[in-house]
Amino acid sequence: MQVRHGETGGPDEGGSPDAWAARVEAQMTDEERFSLLRSVMGRLPGMDRDPRVPEDVPLAAGHVPGVERLGVPPMTMSDAGLGVTNPDFREGDTATALPASIALAASFDPALARRSGAVVGREARSRGFTVQLAGGANLVRDPRNGRNFEYLSEDPLLTARMAAASVDGIQSEGVVSTVKHFSLNCNETNRQWLDAVIDPDAHRESDLLAFELAIEESAPGAVMAAYNKVNGTYAAGDAYLLTDLLKGEWGYPGWVMSDWGGTPDWSFAPAGLDQESGAQIDAWVWSGEAFGEPLREALDRGELPRERLADMVRRILRSIRAVGVDRRGAGPEVDLDAHADVALDTARRGIVLLKNEGDVLPLGQDPQTVAVIGGNALVGVPAGCGSSLVTPTGGFAATLPLGGPGIMGSVRTLSLLPSSPLAELRTVLPEATIEYDPGMSPASAALLAARCDVAVVFAHDVSSEGYDSADLALPWGQDALVEAVAAANPRTVVVLETGNPVTMPWIDKVPAVVEAWYPGQRGGCAIAEVLAGVVEPSGRLPVTFPVGLEQHPRPELPDAGAPWGTPTTIRYDEGAEVGYRWYARTGQTPLFPFGHGLGYTSFAVGDLEVSGDETLRASVSVTNTGGRPGSTVAQVYLTDVDGEPRQRLLGFERVELQPGESCRVVVTADPRVFARDDGVRSRWVVDGGRYRVAAGFSATDLPLAAVVELEGRSF
Ligand code: GLC
Repeated sequence: MQVRHGETGGPDEGGSPDAWAARVEAQMTDEERFSLLRSVMGRLPGMDRDPRVPEDVPLAAGHVPGVERLGVPPMTMSDAGLGVTNPDFREGDTATALPASIALAASFDPALARRSGAVVGREARSRGFTVQLAGGANLVRDPRNGRNFEYLSEDPLLTARMAAASVDGIQSEGVVSTVKHFSLNCNETNRQWLDAVIDPDAHRESDLLAFELAIEESAPGAVMAAYNKVNGTYAAGDAYLLTDLLKGEWGYPGWVMSDWGGTPDWSFAPAGLDQESGAQIDAWVWSGEAFGEPLREALDRGELPRERLADMVRRILRSIRAVGVDRRGAGPEVDLDAHADVALDTARRGIVLLKNEGDVLPLGQDPQTVAVIGGNALVGVPAGCGSSLVTPTGGFAATLPLGGPGIMGSVRTLSLLPSSPLAELRTVLPEATIEYDPGMSPASAALLAARCDVAVVFAHDVSSEGYDSADLALPWGQDALVEAVAAANPRTVVVLETGNPVTMPWIDKVPAVVEAWYPGQRGGCAIAEVLAGVVEPSGRLPVTFPVGLEQHPRPELPDAGAPWGTPTTIRYDEGAEVGYRWYARTGQTPLFPFGHGLGYTSFAVGDLEVSGDETLRASVSVTNTGGRPGSTVAQVYLTDVDGEPRQRLLGFERVELQPGESCRVVVTADPRVFARDDGVRSRWVVDGGRYRVAAGFSATDLPLAAVVELEGRSF
């Protein structure tokens, strides 16, 4: 893998970032070297400023002092991928709250991901921040995972393309971005004591492939290691993952930081960890700041090689230079209206129309009576909870503490962003008579629904860092609400605002379902525009929606509900067959497949051409066969090899077409996407055989296919 780590910024008197880093590090004292190897939180929740954070430095997730005499700037680190967060750090500071990453992924639009990354980078830099803890790239393996809203997809290619574009956008503003959490942080259950077990070859073909492609494409300045163990070894102290694979085989030149409170021991340094993060939490959880005195003593004992110490420092310096952190000017002007427009555009493109029988949608502009029910649609739209939660421009519309077991209970909230779907619907449907029911009582809601032309039921969950859901059911009895409203009005539309796939026991009783995810601070507007038909629904599912957990590789989540601190093992025996690949391998039919999404127009594919040499190539025509302009996502998959199911997304392209218009989509697959990893010699193998390549609009909607013979080879 040739890693592209571009040199950014103007003419560099110090030569390459590596040359500058080596020269500066060589001039450092050990005191200065060690000062770069730990970040401290501005303050722990509810406590005072950490004395190591100077008064003139804004409080944030992490602070690392600089070395002024050598031109090394201090580093201030902030979360995360959805915007610049402010969990009780900076009085009154708000930022653009973007839609959840899973909504961004539903757009299948890397250019949009870059634009939204640039919004985050610009708002970080305007505050003087150096590092944005973004780039969540863990695969959505388990639909119960409380952080899937911060991740992107079940597929490595889609995940990598979207994560890379977002990281690129952030770093284009002279702010280092991470990719995280390396690797296999796919559940929240007791994450610091979780052992994630997977076949090493399958790991390379799935979660690690997503990281490999994302890192190759975007050159993130830093990688954040995961809290959990992988196959018995903490990821943050795993010499194979960090030194042999990431830095060795992949040639990654940046630095690896731990997660916050994710450095139990100084020995993680010789294994490949370069920086301890949130050191105060380590002192609390593991009874010491590992990269403080313990690491210095290890150096004195000769157990930390001096060359390794130099390497740790140079990697940090190199990234600062390569991203241009040390050479950017004062904070840029921030156009919050323009940034809000990016949030709106992301929400619009991420909304997925799952079902629309009888064309109940779009509602259109005819005079009509509309019941809007539930989901706090009067107040705003929900946001996911945890370190990625952004206090939106203008502040939250409402925040309700939720609490819960474990360390995250104290910060677990239902947070509503100020974008009321009800108010926005009244704006986009001026001729309609719209009445609202809060949805507390299904019976009451049914009374309103019964006397309206159409009923729109909003239903949401609250995904949160630190928690895996026990099941996929909508919380707070919302399924009963949907059932009651659907029984009262056959023209019922369900709008889901969820961070994960949910089960839909009422699916056969409602003609229309929309998935809006956590749609960000302009989400209410986007939802109203799509329902009214002002905007074409164009999102496609980045994750499979199962009928139920009985279809999942792990219907029961090991140690679900166990007390915080319980050592847990989760065996990811599905290996690389994640999501749609699992359904293809097991022959199951999900509720809604990966890549699925409807619009208000229709599309067709034609003229599929497939060829193969050192990789698979395909081209296909896409036509808007309907009467309205619209966007769709053309998808090309490997479906099987010599008749053996092996579904792999080879490529995709989002296209926008006028009625009757056609275009040609061309896909050249990265062979790693469909090859096998032969871990014995750590190389990729393409088996010889007959490869069936198909094209269409979801993992199961593949009307065209062709077979091509490939020679076996390894690389
Ligand atoms: C959290 C998260 C990580 C975040 C960090 C700083 O625990 O796991 O994604 O960037 O700590 O808040």
